[in-house]
Amino acid sequence: MRLINIGGGEPEYDTPSNIIEAMKQAMEDGYTHYGDFRHIPELREAVAAKYKRYGVDVDPELVIITPGSTMGIYMAYKALMKPGEEFIVMDPCFFGYFLAVKEQGIKPVPVPRSGDDWSFNIEDVYKATTDKTRAVLICSPDNPTGAVLSQKELKELAEYSVEKDVKIISDDIYDEILYDGAKFKSIAALPGMKERTIILNGLSKTYAMTGWRVGYIIPPDKETYDMLFSLQMSTYLVLNQALQYASLEALTGPQDSVKKMVEGYREKREYVVDAWNDMPKVSITKPKGAFYAFPDLSGYGLSSAKMAEYIKKEANVAITPGRLFGAQGEGHIRNSFAQSMDDLSEGLTRIKAALSKL
Ligand SMILES: Cc1ncc(COP(=O)(O)O)c(C=O)c1O
Repeated sequence: MRLINIGGGEPEYDTPSNIIEAMKQAMEDGYTHYGDFRHIPELREAVAAKYKRYGVDVDPELVIITPGSTMGIYMAYKALMKPGEEFIVMDPCFFGYFLAVKEQGIKPVPVPRSGDDWSFNIEDVYKATTDKTRAVLICSPDNPTGAVLSQKELKELAEYSVEKDVKIISDDIYDEILYDGAKFKSIAALPGMKERTIILNGLSKTYAMTGWRVGYIIPPDKETYDMLFSLQMSTYLVLNQALQYASLEALTGPQDSVKKMVEGYREKREYVVDAWNDMPKVSITKPKGAFYAFPDLSGYGLSSAKMAEYIKKEANVAITPGRLFGAQGEGHIRNSFAQSMDDLSEGLTRIKAALSKL
């Protein structure tokens, strides 16, 4: 039985051909040098134009291009926090948010998503706040829950941010992957919030460009920009020039391939949610965005790590244990539907058979 991996956040689609062509062309045109360390102005302008469509007035001069948003997360932490300081995360949340904390000596403080549809209660954010809290990290649409923050949640967070003088880190990497008419809203578009929000985004998910390593940060002000730029100059220096032109093509070229990929994810979401609902003792909240299903398998009485181990051993299917995403993720598993329909259908059939033996 071959191993099927339906756990990872890796799109099955190839990078759209117009982006690949732009990369080839740029290399042939000799764009193989350092170039401007602030990156090409057209790329920074394309980022600003994208956020203008979300109602955020971004100065292209203050856009930082990063080698992926993983680097963006690391840099945002460094720019906003000193060792011993804290930031609030929603529990569950992307496990990547925990990777840099030990090294930087900062502390993530979880706030449970205690409401329906993985929503959170603003009172819990206030309760988790101490004199060391510097930021709240949000991600909408979310990995792993697929939750999309409501306008009410965004407004409450904005009020909190002003009242407590705490910054918002907004990870928007799934902003284009939404279903059933859900719309992406940036907290930075709310009055007074642009100066309080550090925006993280990247091309990995929207354009199936995980291996290309392109992301960006929109800092709240020049002071934060200067800190980020200094971090950039002391680490990766600059992204290669051809990659910048390919990224420009991704952001400003035809977007029909994005629509097609999102339509593919939408179809697979229906399939995957139905398949989990069809298994006894399983419950699932239908994701509103991103490409993850996060079913609750606690009815089987195993920890998420033991469940992942069992599914791997019994069905040779790799899924991601929910506990990796925080304490509230215990009992759940993450199943990415960015994978191929063949793998999803074979993998879920095997899982169903394995669960029936428990
Ligand atoms: C919520 C979230 N943020 C950031 C990332 C990192 O993406 P990249 O470093 O490829 O831009 C991921 C990848 O899975 C993610 O799910």
